[in-house]
Amino acid sequence: MIAAVSAAPLRPTTPDERAARYGELREEIGAVLAGERDRVARMATVAAMLAQAFAPRFFWTGFYVVDPFKPDELVVGPYLGTLGCLRIAFGRGVCGTAAATRTVQVVDDVHAFPDHIACDSRSASEIVLPVLDAAGALIAVLDVDSTEPAAFDAADAEGLAAILADVFAFDPAS
Ligand code: SME
Repeated sequence: MIAAVSAAPLRPTTPDERAARYGELREEIGAVLAGERDRVARMATVAAMLAQAFAPRFFWTGFYVVDPFKPDELVVGPYLGTLGCLRIAFGRGVCGTAAATRTVQVVDDVHAFPDHIACDSRSASEIVLPVLDAAGALIAVLDVDSTEPAAFDAADAEGLAAILADVFAFDPAS
């Protein structure tokens, strides 16, 4: 007789499976980052754990950070994936739109998105979320790209937003 297959899918694909995996990841990321205040360490850890949890669907996973010297420009931060472009002006492409509007962008077909910045032509769809600090200031965006068309939906938006709120909306001085 064949043993029962593990309940935890290796490659979560349905919205329910992804919501469950995001819930587990919130706990796992919280445990890894407990006591660590450094923002770069937090971004690098979140990128690595997300990319690993959702490989190979997450083809590029990382942060574009608001440049403190050019507040209307994003500069690349910690990421996993192929070479990303270095800077994105607010309002440009999917990341720049998320930064300028502070809204989540879910793009099923990046090639149909006006002004999309193609760092790697294999990217087919993406999700970008604003990252806010405890005071509500925009500090970065999280950008996840997939080679699969329409790879992201509300389950990803909700799961990722919850993780970002946990990890970045805290007072580093506390
Ligand atoms: N796709 C992004 C650019 C960044 S990369 O894909 C890594 C955009 O259009 O904002």
